Amino acid sequence: MSFQWPTGFERCPKEDWAETPLEELALKYDTVEEHGWYDNLDATVELIIENLNSGDLIIDYSGGTGILTQRLLMAAQRDDFGILIVDSSPKFLRLALEKFQDNEQVSFRLINFLRDERRLQLLDEVLTTEMIEHGVDMICSTNAIHLYNQLDETLAAWNRVLRPNGRIHIQSGNIRNPSADEDAWIIDETVDHIHQAAMKIVQEQPEWANYSTMLEDEEYMKSHDVLRDKYFLPVRPIDTYLDALTSSGFQIDKQIVKTIPADVEEWYSFLSVYHEGVLGWVGGAERITGEKATEYVIEERKKLIRISMDMIFGRNDSFQTSWTYIEALKPE
Ligand SMILES: C[S@@+](CC[C@H](N)C(=O)[O-])C[C@H]1O[C@@H](n2cnc3c(N)ncnc32)[C@H](O)[C@@H]1O
Repeated sequence: MSFQWPTGFERCPKEDWAETPLEELALKYDTVEEHGWYDNLDATVELIIENLNSGDLIIDYSGGTGILTQRLLMAAQRDDFGILIVDSSPKFLRLALEKFQDNEQVSFRLINFLRDERRLQLLDEVLTTEMIEHGVDMICSTNAIHLYNQLDETLAAWNRVLRPNGRIHIQSGNIRNPSADEDAWIIDETVDHIHQAAMKIVQEQPEWANYSTMLEDEEYMKSHDVLRDKYFLPVRPIDTYLDALTSSGFQIDKQIVKTIPADVEEWYSFLSVYHEGVLGWVGGAERITGEKATEYVIEERKKLIRISMDMIFGRNDSFQTSWTYIEALKPE
């Protein structure tokens, strides 16, 4: 039997985000779907399918543009389970809606930012009572948990909505894991290496000398370091996540680490979208100077990112990255 949403549940509530046009950043982000390093989703898809039962409701938390949802639907080839995509970005969620609005298996909820409390809503504040009463069988979060600054509160809310024996599947490449292959990169840490290489290039190569005075301005450089850490957050060790899960009432079932090759050109194409976060000091980031960077400066930044990557990866077309997978369950 095909999946049935609880009575009275609206797959997509009539909210402003759902009415807006598709946005460029979301469309650009979504191209990672075609990148080889996005095979990082495969293990999560397999683990979910192993435990999938008829009638299950899965929450794709931080589901973004719906790439995991798409892969899961393709791999499972069955219509007896439902996926609720929950995300804090209205623009990403809008693109997910575009993809799945006609698919009765998929529904959508936005996590709102509560201005007065200066925090994002928690999962049980996003779901309606009929959904909480129905219960949730699995929650997954891919390529996102390293972004949560209310980690304990987020996991505690997951625990409140999950059924006893329900499972969670977490995956991220930005977790320090002592079991990871020593030669594999934490993918976001390439950014700091690119920044270091770019500073060297600017100092040493006359054609980049225009930007060398910026390097001498300590305050300017420091504020761009802070900005870089906002785009690419400092990496936390696996124990941070394991401890947070355990203290939120979960039992760790599996910890897996995988090495996944990333194509240098594809990673460049991803990073070039976030040029301001990577090398904003080249020309000055708008969020710091208040002035929009010109097209010329943006092109220079991207060029310098690419040259710096050549310096780091040499003649290699690809590099190895590590991804951590954690499966946990809520005991009865
Ligand atoms: C890198 S994308 C990953 C999207 C998708 N899960 C995937 O694997 O392609 C990170 C997602 O996390 C969402 N996100 C960022 N901070 C969040 C938070 N604090 N709580 C929930 N979601 C968050 C973003 O809006 C974005 O959609």
